This record gives sequence, structure tokens and C-alpha cells, in this order.
Amino acid sequence: MDARTLKIKAAAVALTYVEDGMRLGIGTGSTAEEFVRLLADKVASGLNVIGVPTSERTAALCQELGVKLTTLEETPELDLTIDGADEIGPELALIKGGGGALLREKIVAAASARMVVIADESKNVEMLGRFPLPIEVNRFGLAATTLAIKAAASRLDLAGSLTLRMTGAEAFVTDGGHLILDASFGRIPDTRALSNALHAIPGVVEHGLFLGLARVAILAGADGIRTRTQP
Ligand code: A5P
Repeated sequence: MDARTLKIKAAAVALTYVEDGMRLGIGTGSTAEEFVRLLADKVASGLNVIGVPTSERTAALCQELGVKLTTLEETPELDLTIDGADEIGPELALIKGGGGALLREKIVAAASARMVVIADESKNVEMLGRFPLPIEVNRFGLAATTLAIKAAASRLDLAGSLTLRMTGAEAFVTDGGHLILDASFGRIPDTRALSNALHAIPGVVEHGLFLGLARVAILAGADGIRTRTQP
């Protein structure tokens, strides 16, 4: 089974969590896009939902496919967010931000009563950190922020390269106008400590560790669909 088929299968199960009248957070990335396509089919046949997109990219796809959108200003409380992830670890801790949308994704997930993650089985890991951790930083003071992140990581016995994300020859710029440093720390035994340490650095806008946000993970593999839940 190819990767796209697995993503569609996970997205199809996520759709069963969507009820008429729901206010949805709509994720970003290739798996979330499959969800948007399936959702749009349901909307075309009468499902009434409204969504807050987690990126301009997702907003454009929703508009193209006829999924009604709102903003967190108009609708600050959401019923359900469906999103992809780069890694899914113990207690449904996640690494997100491979697509660069981590800040809006985290704001939207935190405004939702429930977050359901969709992915293929390859994203499920015993410990987070194989995937480089995206850290969204302010442009101002980039070198100082980079040093501060390295120092904070070292205090937690983490080391590795911090790479400024690029798009061709230009630095990648997020929807919020910030930059992303991809941190190759390797395995992260204490995600909460790293999260707190990163949040204490003024130039860090947000990071891609999503702790205590996801309640359900729908994982599609060659042997079928598996659902992990977190109370
Ligand atoms: C976007 O910023 C990310 O958090 C995505 O949700 C994540 O990278 C998963 O993307 P794919 O579904 O494309 O793997």
C-alpha cells in the first residue's frame, strides 16, 4: 500500500469523528490535505461544519473545495481539530512543524476541545526526536536566539545541529513572518523540560513539541488502522 493510500485511510477514519454543526480546526500537511478532500465531499453532500485553517495553504485548499471557513477571532472555541504529525510518541506527545505551520497549529489545537492526529504507522515512535524539532523564532536576534537554544539544550544533555530552514536560496518564512530552526537533537527523553526551556528563551516564538494536546491518534499501516487514545 502506498503512502498516500495510508494517509487517505487515516483521514477517512478521522472523518467519523466529525459531526454536523461542528467547529473544526483544520490541520496542515499532506495527510491533513487528504482529510480536507474527504471533508469537502461530505460538505458537498450536506454536512454543515465551519473550520479554522492552520495555514494559508490549508485555507486556500478549503476555499477551493468549498469548506466554509472562519477565524479564531470569530470562533475562539472549537470542537475538534484534525491534523497530521511528524512524530507521535508516548502519551501522544507529538513533533509537528515539518510543514512550517506549527504556531497556528498549536494555537488552533489548544483552542479545541479535542485534537485527533492522523498519520501512517511510520510516524509512531517509542521516543520523540528522530525527526528534527522545528523551532519557530523571531527574525530579530537570530544568532543570539540560536546560541540560547544550544545552551538550553546542552543543560538537558542534548546536542546537535540547528539548521535555518530554507526555501531555495531564501530563508523559509512562516505564515506569522518568523523563521524556523530545525534542531537535530536526536532522542528527547524529557520533552516537558525541553519545552519549558525553549519557552523561556525570548526569541523563541513556539516549538514543535505538542504535549498534552492530542487525545486520539489514528495510525494507518499495511495491516490496517490502529487507534491510540490518551485520557
Ligand atoms: C505542518 O506544519 C506539520 O505539523 C504537519 O502536520 C506535519 O509535518 C505532517 O505532515 P505530513 O502529513 O505531510 O507528513
